[in-house]
Amino acid sequence: MNGPILLPYRGIMPRVAASAFVAPGVALIGDVEIGEDASIWFNCALRGDVAAIRVGARSNIQDGTIVHTSTGGPTIIGAGVTVGHQCLIHACTLDDDCLVGMGAIVMDHAHVETAGWVGAGAMVTENKRVKAGELWLGRPAKFARAVSDEERARIAGLAARYVGRAKEYRAELGYDPERTLA
Ligand SMILES: CC(C)(COP(=O)(O)OP(=O)(O)OC[C@H]1O[C@@H](n2cnc3c(N)ncnc32)[C@H](O)[C@@H]1OP(=O)(O)O)[C@@H](O)C(=O)NCCC(=O)NCCS
Repeated sequence: MNGPILLPYRGIMPRVAASAFVAPGVALIGDVEIGEDASIWFNCALRGDVAAIRVGARSNIQDGTIVHTSTGGPTIIGAGVTVGHQCLIHACTLDDDCLVGMGAIVMDHAHVETAGWVGAGAMVTENKRVKAGELWLGRPAKFARAVSDEERARIAGLAARYVGRAKEYRAELGYDPERTLA
């Protein structure tokens, strides 16, 4: 089985916590850190070359998502964050417990605060701030409404489910960080 690809850039290697899961087909490049129990799913690319990328504990980045940075613009993803399939996360900040729906784009210096929600297919343009507990939709994305308590619990459940799913995949694939990430 082919594992993920980890490549150095300017002498800096990606660093992956021992309990994290990085799926086959993922490319991690340069100054990238993946936190405990986080999971990076098939065919994602996280390219930390011109600035750093951080993915916090228990966060999941789903299949086909691209994470990049710009000069002076790191990408900081907090803890318990879910990023859906095929997103583009570029030189921005996603605070703890937020959800970026599938196919969404978050552009340079945008900031999604704690438990903020970017809807499926939305495009959060440069420097915009999705405030804590807000749902934004559309291209360009605009404030749609507040996230309900029930939705907030569902978003937290989603991140927790991905922690469990990553453990299942690690067992199923015989994932051994020492060997798989070598
Ligand atoms: C936004 C979302 C939460 C639905 O919210 P909702 O309040 O239940 O919305 P509804 O389905 O009742 O639709 C309300 C209106 O918003 C529109 N709408 C729904 N989702 C939309 C979206 N992602 N972008 C733009 N408009 C959207 C609907 O078409 C509807 O418009 P209308 O009133 O003109 O008919 C959902 O569509 C979404 O984006 N979920 C993200 C799921 C996801 O990506 N999860 C990733 C985990 S794998």
